[in-house]
Amino acid sequence: MADRVVDQLKRPLQDLRISVTDRCNFRCAYCMPAEIFGPDFQFLPKDKVLSFEEIEMVASVFADLGVRKLRLTGGEPLLRRDLPVLIGRLTAIDGIEDIGLTTNGVLLTKQAPLLYEAGLRRLNISLDALNDEVFKKLNGKGISSKTVLKGIDTALETGFEIKVNMVVQKGVNEQEILPMAEYFKELGVPLRFIEFMDVGNSNGWNWERVLTKKQMFGMLTEHFDLEPIDAAYYGEVAKRYRYKGSNAEIGFITSVSESFCSSCTRARISADGKFYTCLFASQGFDVKSLLRANLTYDECKQALKQVWENRNDRYSDERAVKGSPRRNKIEMSYIGG
Ligand code: GTP
Ligand code: 5AD
Ligand code: SF4
Ligand code: SF4
Repeated sequence: MADRVVDQLKRPLQDLRISVTDRCNFRCAYCMPAEIFGPDFQFLPKDKVLSFEEIEMVASVFADLGVRKLRLTGGEPLLRRDLPVLIGRLTAIDGIEDIGLTTNGVLLTKQAPLLYEAGLRRLNISLDALNDEVFKKLNGKGISSKTVLKGIDTALETGFEIKVNMVVQKGVNEQEILPMAEYFKELGVPLRFIEFMDVGNSNGWNWERVLTKKQMFGMLTEHFDLEPIDAAYYGEVAKRYRYKGSNAEIGFITSVSESFCSSCTRARISADGKFYTCLFASQGFDVKSLLRANLTYDECKQALKQVWENRNDRYSDERAVKGSPRRNKIEMSYIGG
């Protein structure tokens, strides 16, 4: 039986989000603006990125500390070579009940079947607009929304359980809310509207660009009858609603207008093996160095346990009171959301 480890605010350690690469084939302005992440940008060299063996070891230790759920992120995780091999190894870890992957969907048409064969069952796919002009501009690479929609279709045919994530920015893609809702209601895929967050240091965030859940809900209920549904698990980030008379649902991720730090059970590991206890942290605990210094499994376990036990992060709660502070935060593309 795994230990039950809680932090300073009594929050248990339940989920681990693992970033498998800091690279991405998109340049969404709110995450990897092309001016900063240009051709000369120094991504992590291969030897600084955790190997599959190292990721497996870290995940096993976390499972031993109570983690039941893993999520693979990036950058864009499907850019990591041989990812199905890693998935196969992670599904075999004792205690891990659920593995999900968050992707921009571009490579799914090619990769969905292999990922499924490796044991992956859940995909969260980001798509911020159906309108091609809007989407091409948003992803910074001129990629058509049709490419992602095709990836979604392939993944559905393969048997995946899918959710779609849409980051909503006022004055940028709010006009896409209703078309997206219609489209994914029809397809029977849950669509989650994410409030634009002040992650990282370079995404040009300000309050004027945030459309709150309340505002989005208002827009949606002019067209649809919605009823709330209970969270699927303790600490779920999305607040969920069902279209009355149908099984289709939507959700809102309200980090800005209604923070959810009090039930935040997520640990994060960056591609270079740093353990972060909050999406908005400025510093991480260097797990890679521990692994490469040949610490024993138990020594690693004690070290990670202590980091969680000392945790008192509640950035979004604090932002609600004090506003967005000027502090050096990790970049979203580095930690994967
Ligand atoms: P499932 O519920 O397992 O499907 O996944 P998820 O919703 O936790 O994962 P996903 O990667 O799809 O995350 C959706 C959005 O929620 C992303 O924009 C994340 O950055 C955001 N998010 C997830 N966890 C947290 C968190 O702990 N804090 C904040 N502020 N945002 C989070
Ligand atoms: N605000 C809200 N969501 C963001 N994401 C990336 N950057 C931001 C931001 N600034 C989303 C991605 C993806 C998820 C992992 O995080 O679109 O759906
Ligand atoms: Fe866009 Fe996701 Fe890539 Fe960031 S990691 S640039 S949000 S696709
Ligand atoms: Fe968790 Fe930090 Fe997000 Fe709060 S802001 S929910 S502590 S990751």
